[in-house]
Amino acid sequence: MVNDIKSFILNALKRSNIYVSGSKLAAELSISRVALWKHIKALKEAGYTIESNHKGYKLISVPDLLLPFEFDKWSNRIYHFDEISSTMDMGKNLLKNNDFIIIVAEKQTKGRGRFDRFWYSQKGGIYFTYCIKSDLPLLYGSKIVLLFAVAIANTMNELFNVDAKIKWPNDIIINNKKVCGILTEMTAELDKIKQINVGIGINVNNEIHKKMKNAISLKEALNQHIDRKALFKKLLVNIENELLKVKSDNILDIYKNLLLTLNKKVSIKTIDDNIVGTAIDISSDGALLVQTDNGEVKKVMSGDCLHLT
Ligand code: BTN
Repeated sequence: MVNDIKSFILNALKRSNIYVSGSKLAAELSISRVALWKHIKALKEAGYTIESNHKGYKLISVPDLLLPFEFDKWSNRIYHFDEISSTMDMGKNLLKNNDFIIIVAEKQTKGRGRFDRFWYSQKGGIYFTYCIKSDLPLLYGSKIVLLFAVAIANTMNELFNVDAKIKWPNDIIINNKKVCGILTEMTAELDKIKQINVGIGINVNNEIHKKMKNAISLKEALNQHIDRKALFKKLLVNIENELLKVKSDNILDIYKNLLLTLNKKVSIKTIDDNIVGTAIDISSDGALLVQTDNGEVKKVMSGDCLHLT
């Protein structure tokens, strides 16, 4: 596939600090030198600076973009856009015969969050939708989303040691501020999922919009510029590993260990109610159990959760 070839070329150029012979590269790839040159031209157009002379090709600089060929085994799964309205809108058409694909945008003009909120998506953040074809029973939908939240929090902790936690159901929090949000959209038949699109927005090196009072970027939390490619690569690995656990029983324990919400006084706005009480547990289907002041325990499947303590 085309992205595999570019991935191979890039890796060969990255490994070498001298010129890489064009005829050797073309032979390794079983393509003509003209075909190789076309791939090099496409890489240059994508933003890579590649010098060429009679000795071959040399990589001078790489763009700070999440281009598919940077992510070896995922290179043919990733659809990359410089600017689109929302990565949530592309998955429906692009998934076709794949079991999963990933839509990535450097910038979104109409990024959307939960409860129809606007999601500011300036350059420097990571915005992607992971689209999965599935025939799992419906109840796995919420489990899949929990696994994403776990994968993202763990990735941040493994790479940056930032003590990232989860606010129910799936906001990722650092220093009591939101660093990442997850939006899930699903198409389903009566009792089974057909497609689940998990949209993830991470504040990385982007400026936080002044309207977003309770948000933080990784750059701000760590006081350093973040290597978005390294972060995205680790996320892809960890998401893949977490998704393998979808049928395992201990997902909830792992999730609960990262959850900030338990034992907190919360106020949750649902579609038709406002529930105030103490978050006492998570049920097996990912719902939050809230004990109200009169002792009643309410099961909240989804809602906008505010921590009051
Ligand atoms: C939330 O409200 O917390 C969820 C935010 C989800 C934002 C991401 S960015 C990538 C994907 N595309 C969108 O338009 N939204 C999600």
